[in-house]
Amino acid sequence: MNNVITIDGPSGSGKSTISRLLAEKIGFLYLDTGAMYRAVALAASRKGVDLTDGKRLGELCRSLDLHFDIDESPARLFLGKEDISEAIRSPDMDMLSSKVSAVPEVREAMTGLQRKMAEGVKLVAEGRDMGTVVFSDAKNKFFITASAEIRSKRRYDERMSRGESVSLEGVTAKLCKRDHQDQTRSLAPLKPAQDAKVIDSTRLTLDEVVNKILDHLNLESV
Ligand code: DC
Repeated sequence: MNNVITIDGPSGSGKSTISRLLAEKIGFLYLDTGAMYRAVALAASRKGVDLTDGKRLGELCRSLDLHFDIDESPARLFLGKEDISEAIRSPDMDMLSSKVSAVPEVREAMTGLQRKMAEGVKLVAEGRDMGTVVFSDAKNKFFITASAEIRSKRRYDERMSRGESVSLEGVTAKLCKRDHQDQTRSLAPLKPAQDAKVIDSTRLTLDEVVNKILDHLNLESV
């Protein structure tokens, strides 16, 4: 598969901004699959769906009218006519999205949707299981890591800049808990694909990471 570049990694690794910058540079579309799991979590919590009820969550996923408006940069995510781009970024949705993403029916629905979104386009697909499961045939796979300290600090700065009142300790605890959940679930756990290039972004700027990816990209295959 040549039309998809996969970028996976834990929260706070910088992978979203890196994926967006990379996509802009090479003229690909950018797919934020974490936003899709967040949208499921938002819809489920609004409808009061029990997060352990796989059957109902599966039905909910199949009924969701979810689409990205890619004319905006960064793209906006809509649930029906509602722009939910901000609502999905709350601390509650951090944890709930991680929880719903472990449910098999949810993963099945999202995987199908993500593969459909990749049809006929060139895509930088970002998430946790892009290289291992959803686009396992992709020729260009990357896994972005960074130390837990720096990832927590980035998340903390992000929250503070949004005017939220948080402590670094609180942000660190939640980030570690979410990573643990994402890494230890039985289905599509967060891990690098065997053929992924792993890049540690702890001491690199976003641009330096993007340049490293560009150096490794097999451009003949995209
Ligand atoms: O990247 P993010 O923080 O917006 O993702 C939110 C949650 O969604 C994350 O904790 C795990 C889940 N997720 C996933 O299971 N698979 C993906 N491809 C992307 C995200």
